[in-house]
Amino acid sequence: MPEPRVKAITLRINGRAFTVPAGTSVAAALALAGDFISRSDLAGRPRGPSCGMGVCFECRATVDGVPEVLTCLTPCREDLEVVTDA
Ligand code: FES
Repeated sequence: MPEPRVKAITLRINGRAFTVPAGTSVAAALALAGDFISRSDLAGRPRGPSCGMGVCFECRATVDGVPEVLTCLTPCREDLEVVTDA
């Protein structure tokens, strides 16, 4: 049987396991998981990825315990733990 062309990666988003293609950004993984909200602003309004290129800072989430990570610039890795605050 031929090897799959794209390797699959499993990460956890808010405690739930999701499998995405290798090379997927964390922001895209959040969207694939149906979670377009990565955080809340100081007024409690939901915020999520907007620019997709590291400019707007709206996609921040906690990744492997590191807060305020730009998920649009962070590639998924095996066993990555992503926590959104929304
Ligand atoms: S989506 Fe704008 S910085 Fe990540």
